[in-house]
Formats: sequence, structure tokens, C-alpha cells
Amino acid sequence: MATEPFQFHDGILYAEGVDLRTLADSFGTPTYVYSARRIEENYQRLVRAFEPLRPHIAYAAKANGNQVILRLLIGLGAGIDVVSGGELERAFLAGAPMERVTFAGTGKTEAEIRAALEPGCSPLAGCAGVDQTRLSQRGRIGYFNVESEGELERIANVAEELGTRAVCCLRVNPNVDARTHKYTTTGKKENKFGLDIRLAPRIFEAWRGNRSLALVGLHFHLGSPIATPSPYVEALDVVMRMIDELQKAGHEVSVLNIGGGFGIAYGHEPQSVSTPEEFAAAIVPVLHSRVEQGLRVHLEPGRVLVGDAGILVTRVQYLKESGAKTFAICDAGMHTLIRPALYGAYHFVWPVAPSSGIVPQGKWPLQNLPGLRSTDLVGPICESSDFLAQERQLPPLRVGDLVAVFDSGAYGMSMASTYNDQPLPAEVLVRGGGMELITPRQSVADLLGVARSARGG
Ligand code: LLP
Repeated sequence: MATEPFQFHDGILYAEGVDLRTLADSFGTPTYVYSARRIEENYQRLVRAFEPLRPHIAYAAKANGNQVILRLLIGLGAGIDVVSGGELERAFLAGAPMERVTFAGTGKTEAEIRAALEPGCSPLAGCAGVDQTRLSQRGRIGYFNVESEGELERIANVAEELGTRAVCCLRVNPNVDARTHKYTTTGKKENKFGLDIRLAPRIFEAWRGNRSLALVGLHFHLGSPIATPSPYVEALDVVMRMIDELQKAGHEVSVLNIGGGFGIAYGHEPQSVSTPEEFAAAIVPVLHSRVEQGLRVHLEPGRVLVGDAGILVTRVQYLKESGAKTFAICDAGMHTLIRPALYGAYHFVWPVAPSSGIVPQGKWPLQNLPGLRSTDLVGPICESSDFLAQERQLPPLRVGDLVAVFDSGAYGMSMASTYNDQPLPAEVLVRGGGMELITPRQSVADLLGVARSARGG
């Protein structure tokens, strides 16, 4: 079992070998801190678990698109799953080979499709600071995951105009409940995602032999985070039957993309969250013989690779008592980490150097210990939904204390905003005892688009 990247030693929280007080002094707060070692371990663990299927793993860049993290995962062999033209260029800049990039998302514009097929149409074409030779040689992406018939037509038209052939997988909606938050459930028929799977035979028939568009497989993504493998097994039953039907009709279905969604344990779950090995133990047997027969399985994980590899470090600015509880007003809030406000998501929180010396043994809430106090961690934003954690039993906080918000590596920075004109936080990557500023904190001047002169005037 790998050692936890964020651990208390002598009452102080460390990220790998780095004292988080030193890190906060060097880079300020709020700051996202990532463990390089944990990202690597997470990736290798997934590769090992699914080894019998030898899957193509495309990291879902939306979970955390930091260039350094993308590069790290690309270096380990990951492809990149993108959902916009912006993410496509991000993947390119990070060095992803285009044939290992897949493009999903419900609303692809013509311009985005063009850029995915023809380097000359990239918004980076002609931009100073971008290697134009590399750009001009980048080729087209691996394939599109297509969400509607209108999109198939649009992709085919663009491909025809460019004189190329676009490769596509059809995203089907298997109507399976992923049993997760209603805002992050995507595989039920009332969700906007994918096409009714019953339409697949007609659609494959309509595009058979098309010069501009090749349909090569099926894709599904059920939701996120998913706690157990059973929704995948349920969906695979439906989808494999469809693949059989399509193959019987003479269509070449060589790719099955089972999406992302593997959950991680945030610490509040009523039942345990399955590990990558447990997901694999249920999914591998269903697909193994198909892979032997030539089917290529693709995965699109995001959270499971980076979620527990990151924390958010924030500093308490003010304390306010209200009845039995304390509000700790921090410099991070819903603009820094929106998951609590948007989904009521739980993140374990604890002071970096707790005054009482009480340190948690795991991420599970400590209840009714003497010396703990019910605390709401809130931010500076003018919204009542601006909280990071509510009614947590925490050691008494002081103004100036640092607090860590755990498991913030996925959908933290990537969903951060500048609401209320709050600049974006910094990001730091820790490796062993070293720390690297991988995203400098945004300045107010940057935020407002005001160039600072060299003289500071
Ligand atoms: N593939 C597709 C098509 C997706 O839509 C997503 C996530 C993924 C892969 C990666 O899912 P993951 O392995 O990370 O669970 N903001 C929410 C999560 C939204 C997920 C959106 N799609 C949150 O903070 O929980």
C-alpha cells in the first residue's frame, strides 16, 4: 500500500516531504498543492488493475488541466480526453500526440471540429510562443465521441471540406443509473448526453462506407463519481449486446470506450468506495474475451488519477462566533473550490498545524472529542452558498491559521472562477522534498487585463 502523500508529522501537515507552512509562506494562499508521486502511483495502479484488457487510458483533462500534470501523465503513457477546443490545444501544448487525443462533449462547434482535423485551423496557428513547425505537423485527433446525429453531419461536412476522413465513436446512452449526484449523472435517458442506444443500428447503417466519416465504435460515460462497479456491469451488458448486433450487421466495431467516473473516498460515504482493483475485478471478466477477439477498450478517468493527489491550502482571515458554532472566514471559497456549493460535496478539512495538537487518523470526521468545536469554513464571496465545509468538529482555529481541504486535485482548480473579481489561486507541485510553482497566482492586474509597465507605473 502506498504511503499517503499528505500526512501529519509531529502535529504538522506535510505534502510528501514539504512542511505546508513553509510552502504557504513561499507562495501565499489560497494554493492548490499536488503530489507528483501520488499521481504517478494512481496512474500505474490503474494500468496494473486493467492490464488484462491493455486499455488505452485517456486522462480526462477537465479534472485538472494543469500543463505540468498533463505532461506528467502523457509521459507515463496516457492519452488525453478533451471536451472543447480549448482543452484540445491544452493537450497539444502539453505534448500529447494527437492520435492519442479523443474529443468528447455535447456542443462541438465547427471551429473546434476543424482544429481537431486540420492543424492550420488551430487557434494557435500563427501565435508567437507556439512551435509552429510542431503545430503544422500535428495531424488529426484519434477520434470524436459523437453525441448527436446533427454532430455527425457537422463533422462529416467539415471533414469533406478539408478532404479528410474523421474517425468517430458513437456515444450511446444506456439508460443506467450511476447512483451519483443528479448533476453529475449522465447515462440516464433524461440526461442530455449520448444517443438512445436503440438508434445505433440505424445510424451505423446510414454512415456505412461514408467517405468523410468512419464510425468505429461505441462510447458511454455514466456519471461521476461512481462508487461501485455495478453500473458499469449493467451498462456493459446493454452495450455489448449492441456491439454484437452491429457486428452481425457487418459493421466494424473495434473500439469500446467505457468513459470515466471511478470514484474516490472523500471520507463521508456511507459505504466504502470501490478501489481501482475492485472496479477492474468486475469489469475485466466481462470484456476479456472480447479484447482477445480484437476489441480495443478505452478508459477516460479523471478524478481517480488526480483527486486524492491534491489539497487546497487556505488561510483563516477572520473568526465569527454564532451561537454554538464558529465561522472561519478563509481566503478560499466557492470561487476556489466550487464542489461544496454546487453539489453539497464533502471534503475532509483540518488545520495544517492544529492548535490543540489533535491530528486525525484518517479522513473520517472526529466527533465529540473534547476540545473540538463546530466550525463552518466559509469564503469571501457574497453568496450564502460560499462554504468549503459546514458544521465540522475542528480544533479551535486562530486568525492566520492554515487549513487544508483534502481531495481537491480533481475539479478544484479546473472549476475555479474569478467571481467577485477574485484572482485565481496558485498551484504547486511537490516531489519528495522539492516544490515547484506550476501556476503563479493570478494578479489583479492580470485579472483586469491591465498590463503593468516595467517601471511599475
Ligand atoms: N468522460 C466523460 C465523457 C466525462 O464527461 C467525464 C466527466 C469523464 C470522462 C471523467 O470523469 P471522472 O473519471 O473524472 O469521474 N465536476 C464534477 C464532476 C463532473 C464530471 C464531468 N465529466 C465534480 O466535481 O464532481
